Amino acid sequence: MIENVRLSLLLILGGILLGTAACNKTVQKSEDIKRYGDRKDYHSFSNPEQIKVKHLVLDITVLFEEKILKGAATLSVERTGGQGTEPLILDTRDLNISAVEASGDGGTKFATVQYQLGAKDPILGSPLTIQVPRNVTNVRVTYSTSPGATALQWLTPAQTAGKKEPFLYTQSQAIHARSWIPIQDSPGVRVTYNARVKTPKNLLAVMSAKSDRVGKSTTGQYGFSMQQPIPAYLIALAVGDLEYHGLTSRTGIYAEPSVLPKASKEFEDMDKLLRAAESIYGVYQWEQYDVLVLPPSFPYGGMENPRLTFVTPTLLAGDKSLVGVISHEMAHSWSGNLVTNATWRDFWLNEGFTTYFERRIQEEVYGPARAEMEALIEKRQLEDELKTLAPRDQVLYIDLKGRDPDEGSTLVPYVKGMLLLRLIEKTYDRERFDAFLRGYFGQNPFQSITTGEFITYLKDHLYKEDESLANKVNLEEWLTKPGLPADAPEPQSSALNDVEKLGAAWVAGKQPLAGMPTAKWSAAEWQHFPASMPKPLDKGKMAELDKAFNLTKSGNAEIKFVWLMMTIRGKYEAAYPELQSFLIEVGRRKYIRPLYQELAKTPEGMVRARAIYAKARPGYHPISSETIDQILK
Ligand code: BES
Ligand code: ZN
Repeated sequence: MIENVRLSLLLILGGILLGTAACNKTVQKSEDIKRYGDRKDYHSFSNPEQIKVKHLVLDITVLFEEKILKGAATLSVERTGGQGTEPLILDTRDLNISAVEASGDGGTKFATVQYQLGAKDPILGSPLTIQVPRNVTNVRVTYSTSPGATALQWLTPAQTAGKKEPFLYTQSQAIHARSWIPIQDSPGVRVTYNARVKTPKNLLAVMSAKSDRVGKSTTGQYGFSMQQPIPAYLIALAVGDLEYHGLTSRTGIYAEPSVLPKASKEFEDMDKLLRAAESIYGVYQWEQYDVLVLPPSFPYGGMENPRLTFVTPTLLAGDKSLVGVISHEMAHSWSGNLVTNATWRDFWLNEGFTTYFERRIQEEVYGPARAEMEALIEKRQLEDELKTLAPRDQVLYIDLKGRDPDEGSTLVPYVKGMLLLRLIEKTYDRERFDAFLRGYFGQNPFQSITTGEFITYLKDHLYKEDESLANKVNLEEWLTKPGLPADAPEPQSSALNDVEKLGAAWVAGKQPLAGMPTAKWSAAEWQHFPASMPKPLDKGKMAELDKAFNLTKSGNAEIKFVWLMMTIRGKYEAAYPELQSFLIEVGRRKYIRPLYQELAKTPEGMVRARAIYAKARPGYHPISSETIDQILK
């Protein structure tokens, strides 16, 4: 009897305790959502909480002479909330709208409707407010783009490898899709799409979608379909003298004919990388993985357009040393394209996970020593960049309201984000963390996620398994404080330590260059060798290095970039002609932005920068020229 009373008391007590714990959990949860879960996208005028675009049919003609795309976008829409009378608000930038029609019968009959193009905001463009009937199902906007559209780069034949045909490509991330498609341009809104693209003859059109044909069409007509819902920033198009080389049944390369053999060799490991990625995070959901090699003005190293990653030709080093960028873009097939940042404030969820994941793929295929070298190099780059960034730009959960989201793409979301995930991995052990991540991707496919939702998921899953670990990672510090927390993991590379020691000994005059084991060095070691030297390095020392290793003429863009930065700091004039050609040839923001910034630090440098830029600017994509205009204005 007494035993029974005891037992029930215990049960009641236990129930109360459990209840409080559960209660605390919900309080805790809403706290995280409150702090890190703002779903409002400050970079879109659209109103998806009232009416949402679900599918896009794009019908466009590519006019190289006029540098415009001309055609229509037909959007399937669904009312999601509100009174049922709200207008549809689309994002646009510099579009010339000639007609807007709506249908209430699924797109058979259309009637003209009233619309208004709002004043242009310098960052966001103009809202297109369309008065649609209550029962609206489809909206058709007939329009053309402007020659200055921020997503589009129109290249003359002279700016291509083949020199014979013009070239066009898009870059929609972060908020440039609106400059070529009237759409709800927010990462929180996903659409499926179909497209019909008409090009001049002899050119091939490709998109981030399945094409209805392989090879060029004699009529210049191409059809595409993307059946998985994607955010607008992943809609992409390229048109040029392109050919395809299949590597395996599900991977291959598009490039201009003269570039194709080298690119196919450089990226021949693609299927291996994809299998490695799948072994860690689950099946690849996009069926095909191809890479398009663009002309050198492409403003990024790579862009993860679904089914078709776009890359810079500066990856073609000849020794596969820069395929980490392919691993990176491929990794976005999970982190970014499958599970997407809800707003640009949550950008670190895209890039931090992807950078973490990139290292994992590299480790799987090329071994831990190489992956660690690459991680250490990145951490050093982050440490350097942090010295130049305002505190508000050093945080993962960054406030970009009122600013261009492209300003948020520093190394902070990438490398600080990667280090946070490494720390969590280390704290919980890899196997558990992997299982957790597989669940995270598996349970949120084709969703957009806020930082708050990720933290909640983390606490509900990984933390729950072992409560004693729950306070080991100071998430608040990692997400909201500038700088790098003291517990940031340090990647370990004995090879890079050796390189550093040799460099230091040489700088101190204790070690000749000739005696160094450079024959064994990989590209990462070659990159780290100059990068770890004092800044600035003495001019005579620079000349000695260059004479021994010919760094000015390096064929590896990463090594060359490190070296060119040093030549500006050290006023090593012998490299200036090469600096100029590099800045004219290459438009990749990651390189040209720091180079111009470094030049702009001195009055003579500023003069040189402006002279080079006058020649280089016509060859840059609008996204790159926008960045450099800011630096040199
Ligand atoms: N999605 C990014 C490129 C991007 C970011 C475009 C923000 C527009 C706005 C892409 O995946 C990327 O991160 N590219 C990197 C390469 C990577 C290996 C660090 C780049 O371009 O340098
Ligand atoms: Zn990325």
